[in-house]
Amino acid sequence: MSTKKRVTFGSKLGVVLATVGCAVGLGNIWRFPYMTGANGGAAFLLIYFVCIICLGLPVMITEFFIGRKSRRNAAGAFKVMAPGTKWSLIGYNGVFAAFFILGFYNVVAGWTLEYIYQALTNSLSGKSAEEFQRDFTLFSSGIFRPIFWTVLFGVMTHVIIVSGVKKGIERASKIMMPLLFLFLVILCVRSVTLPDASKGLEFLFKPDFSKINSSVVLSAMGQAFFSLSIGMGCLITYSSYFGKDTNLQKTALEVTILDTLVAILAGVMIFPAVFSFGIEPTAGPELVFITLPNVFNQLPMGGLWSLIFFILLGVAALTSTISLHEVATAYVHEEYHMLRSRAALWVSVGVLILGVFSSLSMGILKEYTIFGLTFFDFLDYITAKIMLPLGGMMICIYVGFRVDRKILKAELTNEGTTPFYFFNTYAFFMKYIAPIAIGLIFLNELGLIKIIQGFFE
Ligand code: TRP
Repeated sequence: MSTKKRVTFGSKLGVVLATVGCAVGLGNIWRFPYMTGANGGAAFLLIYFVCIICLGLPVMITEFFIGRKSRRNAAGAFKVMAPGTKWSLIGYNGVFAAFFILGFYNVVAGWTLEYIYQALTNSLSGKSAEEFQRDFTLFSSGIFRPIFWTVLFGVMTHVIIVSGVKKGIERASKIMMPLLFLFLVILCVRSVTLPDASKGLEFLFKPDFSKINSSVVLSAMGQAFFSLSIGMGCLITYSSYFGKDTNLQKTALEVTILDTLVAILAGVMIFPAVFSFGIEPTAGPELVFITLPNVFNQLPMGGLWSLIFFILLGVAALTSTISLHEVATAYVHEEYHMLRSRAALWVSVGVLILGVFSSLSMGILKEYTIFGLTFFDFLDYITAKIMLPLGGMMICIYVGFRVDRKILKAELTNEGTTPFYFFNTYAFFMKYIAPIAIGLIFLNELGLIKIIQGFFE
């Protein structure tokens, strides 16, 4: 495929917003609070920040480099840049990760549709915290209802993917993202003015270092990768649609800052309410869904608030599922020369099958576990904690050791027209710090470091 024919995003703002749309989603508003809650609060947050700066940012810039340089999908990019080598395995890892992530992401996105429905039928108001919890469990462990919403969400994603890249993604992001941001700010204000809110803020911002262990570190790294949409070629695919004059370093910085800001806002919105309503911060995947309705009930016209909020959350999820779907679709479409619409159909069918099983694993299939995890948790674990960091590590190793530094610098500075002041720092982190840190975190989690230590004692 020639470079000229490939569609690109329409405007500079479009580039940033579409990429923010990809990064900001359930990962920030659903996954971040529950991971923070399950991993002890502020100490987790601190490690998360370190991962964002030291690993996330360098990996993101590197993905942008690969994508815009090659102008191909995640797997095809490596075929162009390193023909005849095994580096394209990075792309395949990404394509599989896209399937697996969508396999559980659609389920949670489906939950937002249920809450939109409940807000419309006014069934969220007047309930106690216990009732919200009970009703959520009842709903999510059911059979037809959650599957119905999962499938519906999958179909919505499918339709947008088939209707084309620019129209669908760009338009949705431009309006909804700023609106979601505004809503989060207002909900934060409501949450921090609840009784006992300070306990929640303390939980989120006052680190207890005794809570840190290898699994907390792995979770924080996984969350950083998941939230920034890095490590699986999603941003390779997106940046392949960037224009020649897009400032890659600046875009990476802006996306990272906005994504992190949204996660922090979500934390400030959730934790004061968690403590105020006596909910367990360790509740897991349901945390946001059992906490937020309580906050809405404290607002005048609570039903309307929950309606608008869950619509915005649904759209944020949609801009993320689109990006994930795009990775797999672009791959099948370009590498197998299949019609785009047919490629999308295959991807959607595969994703929906996974979605049905992961939804059922919240209820009747709960007992069927893989390595002690339900199917839903398993998909989450292998993607966020293994495939994404592994992909990120390989991306850094490839560019760090196989790509000429001059070519890298030329692309990242738009042929020298936009200066990159911290280029050497970036290159050092990308080539050495990120791969070594990710490797060590893996070894640590596997318990191998302890074994090696024991060997020397
Ligand atoms: N980052 C998105 C979120 O926070 C999810 C997502 C979209 C993603 N594309 C991705 C995660 C690619 C990993 C890789 O909801």
